[in-house]
Amino acid sequence: LYRQRASSVTPSFLLLGPTGAGKTSLQTLFERGNATPTHTSQSPATVTCALPRDVTAASSKYRSTNDPSAKTERKLHLIDTPGHGKLRHHAFSALTAPALSGLIFVVDSAALSSANGLTEAATYLHDLLLALQKRHTSAKTSKGPKTLNVLVAANKQDLFTALPAQLVRKNLEREITKVRDTRAKGLLDSGVGGDEDEEEREWLGEGGEGAFEFRQMEECGVEVQVVGGNVRAEGDEAPHVQNWWAWVAENM
Ligand code: GTP
Ligand code: MG
Repeated sequence: LYRQRASSVTPSFLLLGPTGAGKTSLQTLFERGNATPTHTSQSPATVTCALPRDVTAASSKYRSTNDPSAKTERKLHLIDTPGHGKLRHHAFSALTAPALSGLIFVVDSAALSSANGLTEAATYLHDLLLALQKRHTSAKTSKGPKTLNVLVAANKQDLFTALPAQLVRKNLEREITKVRDTRAKGLLDSGVGGDEDEEEREWLGEGGEGAFEFRQMEECGVEVQVVGGNVRAEGDEAPHVQNWWAWVAENM
């Protein structure tokens, strides 16, 4: 009975990431099967999508083929948020959305080859991961929210200037290490963070001075995966989003 009730709640996935990364394009592609032209987003928007039939949801893996629910569509909500720096509070507020099951951080893999593009994406991702870490820390004392996994969707792999997913991962980890140092210095300079506890809570990942790596997030139950793909494609080419669907299915 419990299982039935649990699976009748529609899971939600949150789309976030810098402006122009392709969040709204991805949302329309997942909803309608094709990406239509977009405008920069100024407010969050939720749509309902169905998991494609050739992708298996983790929670239905063990159902028998005679189970009628195995044949019904698996629905999910996709929450799109604006990427503009001044509108990111929408994405952070959405972290408390009901039945939130995972976060899709979309990046423009070509923009990450410029210093500015990389810094912008890494700063946003740093702040997001820090929010997840705090959420985990505070969960120990109260009835905690579910832990959330993060998919870094290395979008625009159709562009020849796009960095491959492996490099997107390495560059983001390296840049987040810098952002973390900058933030720590900023806190010291301004006199904030003199309190040991406070300081510890603001430091992303393991306490040490070493490089930040995504796998350090596993300590607070957050698995970060970087997977390449593209929402748009030229001419006869098809979009490449199958691996992102698979991640969604695994996290439903
Ligand atoms: P904000 O709403 O400003 O946060 O941006 P967004 O992340 O929603 O970006 P959006 O989906 O509006 O896409 C921005 C631009 O990137 C659009 O011109 C899209 O057509 C383009 N775009 C999205 N995905 C891809 C892709 O995979 N490849 C290429 N070449 N262009 C893409
Ligand atoms: Mg948008």
